[in-house]
Amino acid sequence: MSDDTDSKTRILTVIERIEEPGDILRVKLAAPDGAALPAFTAGAHLDIRLSAGDTDLWRQYSLCSDPAQIGHYEIGVLRDPNSRGGSVAFHRLAALGGGFTIEGPRNHFELAEDARRTVLFGGGIGITPMLAMAWRLHALNRDFTLHYCTRSERATAFRDTIATAPWGHRVVFHHDDLPQAQRLDPARDLPAPEAGTHLYVCGPQGFMDWVIDAAKSAGHAPANIHREYFSAQVDITGEGFEVTASRSGVTVSVGPEDTIAKALARAGISIPVKCEEGVCGTCVTDVLDGTPDHRDQFLTDEERAEGSMICVCCSRARSKSLVLDI
Ligand code: FES
Repeated sequence: MSDDTDSKTRILTVIERIEEPGDILRVKLAAPDGAALPAFTAGAHLDIRLSAGDTDLWRQYSLCSDPAQIGHYEIGVLRDPNSRGGSVAFHRLAALGGGFTIEGPRNHFELAEDARRTVLFGGGIGITPMLAMAWRLHALNRDFTLHYCTRSERATAFRDTIATAPWGHRVVFHHDDLPQAQRLDPARDLPAPEAGTHLYVCGPQGFMDWVIDAAKSAGHAPANIHREYFSAQVDITGEGFEVTASRSGVTVSVGPEDTIAKALARAGISIPVKCEEGVCGTCVTDVLDGTPDHRDQFLTDEERAEGSMICVCCSRARSKSLVLDI
């Protein structure tokens, strides 16, 4: 886990909104006074507060613009009526001239800039961090390919951006509604597993699991397979256990449908939580004793195996109790 965090809260103004195909809204955000924004690295995201009426959520959206351009930030958000409400609220709130409270940029999906070869896989709205990576890899004059998979050719967002980008020839489109031969085929499209080759995957969970499993089976080292989940189906349920907050000595019970974060909050111990589904990393807490039952998609395989950190918004315990460094 890495994090080049800028945790300062800012208000940014919507200076442009573009309706892309596929129900994706592309928005440019700038400082109200037009000042340069903090630099970001390819793969970074913003935490954006969506607050109106009964809605008060924080959601994470990847930056898709060229990291060399810091006059504004650009994000793309898919309107998904089946999600927990964040994307619908974003589409509703992103009025031209309106403001959003943001934190970041933060990067949990960093690019290995010295890789000999890089292959990017973006599924649907998972294209957004890949666009920033493509800009950066092009600036570095690196060897890379971007595979972009969408449901249909007609509903493919960012086509104009890619068509005019100086790296557009490196993008290979794959559409579900076109013949099988052009669809993504891991056996054909994954590069050979070599030490200097790095893979990046972002998109819906099924797409990501498919590509990642194929890459592992093909012999790519887990450390060279980078992924970012923007949402996840997470099962938070399980047997009850106890959690002790070591600094205060308070112990709470976590019930079968409870979370560690909620149980601690009821006892007055608050741990910041944003996504509540184990993808953003906001709630990661150090474990001093006990064995976590990881349910998140945020920690790496190595970090899970080590067991010294836990996402308290969704993960549980394999042991009867956990002691946390809070
Ligand atoms: S709040 Fe996002 S990982 Fe826990």
